Amino acid sequence: MSATAHRAIFDKVSLHQDIATVLIDEVTIRKRVRELGDIINREYARKDLLLVSVLKGSIVFMADLIRAITIPHEIDFMATSSYGAGVSSSGVVRILKDLNTSIEGRNVVIVEDIIDSGNTLSYLARIMQERRPASLRIMTLLDKPERREVDIHVDWVGFSIPNEFVVGYGLDYDEVYRNLPFIGVLKPSVYGASD
Ligand code: IMP
Ligand code: MG
Repeated sequence: MSATAHRAIFDKVSLHQDIATVLIDEVTIRKRVRELGDIINREYARKDLLLVSVLKGSIVFMADLIRAITIPHEIDFMATSSYGAGVSSSGVVRILKDLNTSIEGRNVVIVEDIIDSGNTLSYLARIMQERRPASLRIMTLLDKPERREVDIHVDWVGFSIPNEFVVGYGLDYDEVYRNLPFIGVLKPSVYGASD
């Protein structure tokens, strides 16, 4: 028997019932990801390129983005501590998994799911800059500019969104909902607030 306690969420037959509204649908995401891929194709043609995905939220975006990119490139992954089961940033960032490759002298693009307070990205960008890449730029699928606590320059944003907690297309609440193919607003009742 598993040592892990059964979580009530696994009793749900569909996660869709917990979504209040679809903020960005699949077709809109696909179109924008293609545009972002084209930006990379133009900016990094004939350059050495390493895309760094920040686990786990950006994996779906990363998987689609690299297939929208037609130029040669490498990928690597980094993991930082997340909010756990909460929905707001603590400002404390920890590296749980570092890169496998050296980035010295390379053109690096950090691929993120969402920039909220900006704490995670500003910390990551700082430690990566210390490793002396030839260039370091940031691409995020989503941006919540209203929530920014630290000043950080983001090079490319897929969509700017309002201050609401979203899930799907890689983004989670308490590790679940990543598989939803769209970006949806979670019903506040799911995380214990009233709808
Ligand atoms: P920041 O450090 O506050 O910018 O937080 C960034 C991280 O928080 C993201 O990479 C996500 O993992 C998580 N996050 C922020 N907002 C949301 C949201 O609306 N839904 C799901 N995860 C979020
Ligand atoms: Mg993330």
